[in-house]
Amino acid sequence: MTRGSQAYGEASYWDERYKHEYGSFDWYQKYSGLLSLLQKYVPKDSHILMVGCGNAALSEDMVKDGYQRITNIDISSVVIEAMRKKYKDCTQLSCLTMDVRDMSSFADQEFDFVIDKGVLDSLMCGSNAHQNAAKMLSEVCRVLRPGGGYMLVTYGDPHMRMPHLKTHGLNIWTVALYVLPKPGSRRASEDCSGEVIDPIPLNDDGSSSTIVGDPDVHYVYICIKAKE
Ligand SMILES: C[S@@+](CC[C@H](N)C(=O)[O-])C[C@H]1O[C@@H](n2cnc3c(N)ncnc32)[C@H](O)[C@@H]1O
Repeated sequence: MTRGSQAYGEASYWDERYKHEYGSFDWYQKYSGLLSLLQKYVPKDSHILMVGCGNAALSEDMVKDGYQRITNIDISSVVIEAMRKKYKDCTQLSCLTMDVRDMSSFADQEFDFVIDKGVLDSLMCGSNAHQNAAKMLSEVCRVLRPGGGYMLVTYGDPHMRMPHLKTHGLNIWTVALYVLPKPGSRRASEDCSGEVIDPIPLNDDGSSSTIVGDPDVHYVYICIKAKE
């Protein structure tokens, strides 16, 4: 995802794109790349909300590995229609057309875990980025149960993303940050372990002294909602 790709925030852009995109495509990381973090943080019986699912194989791969209940939403009715057809016989997956900025069809605290791979990034590319990020994050927070988690997979380093998580998450998150090599990058070929690396230390203000923007990595923020 490149910065300045304004259209990524628009439903019409995604509808048009999905009209011509068949099969599945995972942005950033596939299931295999996220596996160790999912194993660490997301129990198999969690009720998971996959926001901006697109036509990624992630939900399907999670179900194949034993996850039991994943609700997928996307703003594009075109992709949701295709996903519904594809998974009509898969009782563990449901697919709904919905804007992540307004999830009023869901009750407060309905989900144990929310996964976002590239959706906050899409909104950050569009117009009114800060407002949209605020709306999204407050909705994510509302639908999560206390103690539940939000996994944000993004190209945004702590300097770019922590201010949003801190402001709009109203300081109710405990955040652990991980760095994964981009598939196909030089770092990925050096790191064949597949093991979860330790979280990157964050300062009290959410900044990191150890990270400088690295084009060869994706950042994964695991945000745990405070217990009441
Ligand atoms: C970069 S793609 C990522 C797709 C998928 N998560 C993946 O990892 O491959 C961003 C997705 O977010 C969806 N999206 C963009 N704005 C959205 C919004 N406001 N509400 C819900 N989904 C949105 C797009 O339709 C698109 O499918």
